[in-house]
Amino acid sequence: MPTIRIVNGEAVAATDYEKYMRTDKLFALLPDRREIVSHGEFMFHISHLTAELWMQVIFHDVDTAVSHLARDELSQATDLFQRAAMIEEHLANELALVEKMPPLDYALIRHNTLGKGRGQDSPGFIQMLGLGDVIWPHVVSALERHQTTIVDVLTAPDAQFEMYVLLRSLFELDQWFQTWRFGHLRLAERQMGARARTLNGSRVDGLMNGVRQRMLPELWDAVNEFSERTTARAAQNRGRLEPPSTTSA
Ligand code: HEM
Repeated sequence: MPTIRIVNGEAVAATDYEKYMRTDKLFALLPDRREIVSHGEFMFHISHLTAELWMQVIFHDVDTAVSHLARDELSQATDLFQRAAMIEEHLANELALVEKMPPLDYALIRHNTLGKGRGQDSPGFIQMLGLGDVIWPHVVSALERHQTTIVDVLTAPDAQFEMYVLLRSLFELDQWFQTWRFGHLRLAERQMGARARTLNGSRVDGLMNGVRQRMLPELWDAVNEFSERTTARAAQNRGRLEPPSTTSA
């Protein structure tokens, strides 16, 4: 196991790896294992820290993705949106680790060290809530440039396949954030109970309101419109829907 060199009470970087990664600064962020109030607090703390870092990668990727979109580089944008969605998936899966923590460990954290610390004040989470506003204007411009709509693309995906895959990556980005929020609600219910009160007095199961929020609501609306249109078209054709090659989009 690698050892951390401590000089004057501070961790010191020795190798180039340590210098490049700034592991001295990183390890300085770790909770002091002699001071934690329960075994699980170590993981609880680190899972929040790593989530903050991963969310920074999401913003970095989305920032570049929208620049690609502005230059009409749809494939490059799609690739980065997809990767950002994969980070969300990774964060959603990571919640299972915290689920393993006994509720008593969390109760000890909650009553002894958390103070007024609220997940809702996470800088990364607050920025995640604004991602839709960052992305959406670029999607609208791209659709206008290509003289198409989401419903048209869904109706004939092969005709504008690059655009279709781009839209699919955005569904994934939105969906994995919702999946994280649902997984987190379940985690909070397991650790504290649905009826428990948060610091602002609302019930834990009130987190469900956030689960229902969409990052890009227009995308999901368009699926409704697509479905209504295809249903109407099938109704005109004795219940049978012809593929786009034999119908007009
Ligand atoms: C024992 C496990 C956990 C419990 C019991 C718990 C509990 C809660 C509760 C009650 C809230 C709502 C009130 C508030 O903002 O504090 C909340 C919000 C939040 N927590 Fe946690 N949490 C846990 C783990 C985590 C982890 C591991 C993360 C991040 C990796 C996290 C991130 C957040 C975020 C971002 C919010 C705002 C969510 C929203 O408004 O939809 N929490 N948590």
